[in-house]
Amino acid sequence: MEILEKEPVAVSNSIPTNPQHVAIIMDGNGRWAKQKGKLRTFGHKAGVESVRASVRYARKNGISALTLFAFSSENWKRPKDEVSVLMELFKLVLSSEVKKLHKNGVRLKVIGDLSAFDASLVKKIQAAEILTQNNTELNLNIAANYGGRWDITEAAKKIAVDVAKGRLLAEDVDESVFDSYTSFAQLPDLDLLIRTGGEERISNFLLWQCAYAEFYFTDILWPDFNEQAFADAISAYKDRQRRFGKISEQIT
Ligand code: IPE
Ligand code: IPE
Ligand code: MG
Repeated sequence: MEILEKEPVAVSNSIPTNPQHVAIIMDGNGRWAKQKGKLRTFGHKAGVESVRASVRYARKNGISALTLFAFSSENWKRPKDEVSVLMELFKLVLSSEVKKLHKNGVRLKVIGDLSAFDASLVKKIQAAEILTQNNTELNLNIAANYGGRWDITEAAKKIAVDVAKGRLLAEDVDESVFDSYTSFAQLPDLDLLIRTGGEERISNFLLWQCAYAEFYFTDILWPDFNEQAFADAISAYKDRQRRFGKISEQIT
């Protein structure tokens, strides 16, 4: 009997739709400033314009969640002066941008351990979150004093408390229950992680959420990252085939 070789099923190699959830490690401000003979903090200030451009791009292109890494739990180790400039900048940007974000339907959340911030900053964050909480155009998450290990540890701690109090059975803790205890519960899975500035590492960002994200690294320094650079990252993403463990032929 003749064994018929099956024709391989034609598969599309590209992802037709935009990612739902994009995260960005906004790196390279210091080097950008240094190249221009300026102080590192000049680079942080310049980076604010790239934040605006990214938010604009995300809104225009139907991305439903954008998560930006602004300050890591390790960044406290930087020189004191730089840390204070970053904190002041955070306050300034909150004051100057929140109204505009609200007008544009952006829902703002700050994700991270807020207990380390001074009271006036926490107040500004809470006010911005309350003001924008019902907006639906874009979920904008700013990760500040955030660490991926912190997020996982906090989830484990909250689960332990709920189990101890009888609100949750240990045997019911599965991946989706665990996920609901992290800072990113309610958000779509992370589709794309972009890192600017040339380094190819996660630096303790979204460890749990990166499980099946596509990674995109670019040498562009954060203050030079504009809408075109974002579009290039999205176009690279669309050329990837996400298989989630399957083989090509199973993906239609
Ligand atoms: C990223 O830029 C911004 C923050 C971490 C706050 P860097 O400040 O890390 O810039 P480089 O990597 O030193 O150039
Ligand atoms: C990661 O950048 C944190 C942010 C972009 C906020 P870093 O510049 O702090 O990362 P490492 O320490 O070089 O890995
Ligand atoms: Mg850096």
